[in-house]
Amino acid sequence: MSPSFSKLFVATSLVAASLTGAAPLEQLQERSAKNTTKPKVIMDNDWSTAGFIPYLLALDAGWDVLGLVSDTANSWALQTGLHALATLEVGNLSCIPVHKGADYPILNTPELFQTWEMVHGKLPWEGAFAPENLTYEALGNDPTSGDPSRISKSAFFEGYPNTTFASKDAAWFMIEQVRKYPGQVSIYSAGSLTNVALAVRMDPEFAKNAKELIIMGGYIDVNLLQVTGSTMQADWNSDINLMIDPEGTKIALSAPFPNITIAGNVANQVTVSQEYLDDIYKVRNPYSTLMHEYYGTIFPLWDETAAAILLDPTIVKNTTSFYLDVDTAPSSPSYGNIHAYQEALKPTAQNLQKVNMVVSVDGNRLKKWVKRAVQYPKTCANL
Ligand SMILES: *[C@@H]1O[C@H](CO)[C@@H](O)[C@H](O)[C@H]1NC(C)=O
Ligand SMILES: *[C@@H]1O[C@H](CO)[C@@H](O)[C@H](O)[C@H]1NC(C)=O
Ligand SMILES: *[C@@H]1O[C@H](CO)[C@@H](O)[C@H](O)[C@H]1NC(C)=O
Ligand SMILES: *[C@@H]1O[C@H](CO)[C@@H](O)[C@H](O)[C@H]1NC(C)=O
Ligand SMILES: *[C@@H]1O[C@H](CO)[C@@H](O)[C@H](O)[C@H]1NC(C)=O
Ligand SMILES: *[C@@H]1O[C@H](CO)[C@@H](O)[C@H](O)[C@H]1NC(C)=O
Repeated sequence: MSPSFSKLFVATSLVAASLTGAAPLEQLQERSAKNTTKPKVIMDNDWSTAGFIPYLLALDAGWDVLGLVSDTANSWALQTGLHALATLEVGNLSCIPVHKGADYPILNTPELFQTWEMVHGKLPWEGAFAPENLTYEALGNDPTSGDPSRISKSAFFEGYPNTTFASKDAAWFMIEQVRKYPGQVSIYSAGSLTNVALAVRMDPEFAKNAKELIIMGGYIDVNLLQVTGSTMQADWNSDINLMIDPEGTKIALSAPFPNITIAGNVANQVTVSQEYLDDIYKVRNPYSTLMHEYYGTIFPLWDETAAAILLDPTIVKNTTSFYLDVDTAPSSPSYGNIHAYQEALKPTAQNLQKVNMVVSVDGNRLKKWVKRAVQYPKTCANL
């Protein structure tokens, strides 16, 4: 623990102590929920040890994070939800509820996915559908394939959570919140779209009454990039979030949300260097420490880019729009990928939505924002 860390530690615990003395966390949460002018978001993701930055950005921007929802994409929804609970806990943010999402996509299973791969080729990153390997899990990796109710405790580098899931399943929670605040709730999805699809099918008013849907994913025209570089370059240009659940993705992205925004190709724009991680780590707290140790320099600010576009659209430098379809033919090599149409040529036999595709963002602003949100995170005491 460095001197700067202990100073921050003392300062935040004093603030926490004085505020929690006056009101228990439930009341604090109630109080923040009563500020009806605060924009509201539900964040659905395949959470991980270093995957907390999207909600830190939302809190930093003064948004009301109604809850986190877990999904099956990089790993099973149980494991990713436990990561959400754990990462909230390390930052005293357990007043934000976590709702577990569906274990399985609408139709897809590891077996079907692996069979598709035998016909159409291997994905460099297979997420939850990589073959089960218990040795690999024991070394600190999240579970893939096999039993979705299995937990890999060794993967909790942030600590195993001492808190528990909120009782309502993810899709019900999302429906309930959108009914409570019609027209006000933004849905952020940076993993698979299974829970959103379930909510859309369970409540025909859900999409219409949400404020908007923003997703991380929706890569387009990247086939050449999948073959003209390393398998890591191919990884950057494969759409695992969508491909885990092609049918769920189609249901969600063809639902009548008032506004749909996709952050696919643009999510690769801003990369992370060791210098950047070291710079953030100059202010020590549990989040800067986890980011420094586990974020790594291999992957760009994928989910963070999507979150930033939602939270502050002025960060967008260029955008385009088109009618979007999702390939749901298992016989296709593009199964689970998007297809775009212009107005004059769009299909007439199905009602596709016009979506915004962000082309570029102000990368320097994004990096500064991530730095501030991680260095000076909000806690439940000051939400
Ligand atoms: C309510 O939220 C808005 C938007 O974040 C903020 O500007 C305002 O100061 C908040 N009001 C109170 C009373 O906290
Ligand atoms: C839960 O409590 C145990 C025991 O105090 C601790 O080691 C662990 O880090 C805690 N988990 C989190 C996520 O903080
Ligand atoms: C969380 O709360 C505990 C107890 O109030 C406090 O000791 C700790 O410093 C807080 N941690 C953070 C990251 O705010
Ligand atoms: C399982 O993981 C271990 C550890 O990473 C690795 O050595 C082994 O080759 C893997 N097994 C298979 C079948 O891929
Ligand atoms: C839709 O969302 C995008 C991204 O947040 C924003 O730039 C745009 O202004 C929104 N459009 C409408 C009509 O609300
Ligand atoms: C915005 O993106 C479109 C589509 O990629 C491109 O044609 C256009 O040149 C871009 N405009 C600017 C100002 O970057």
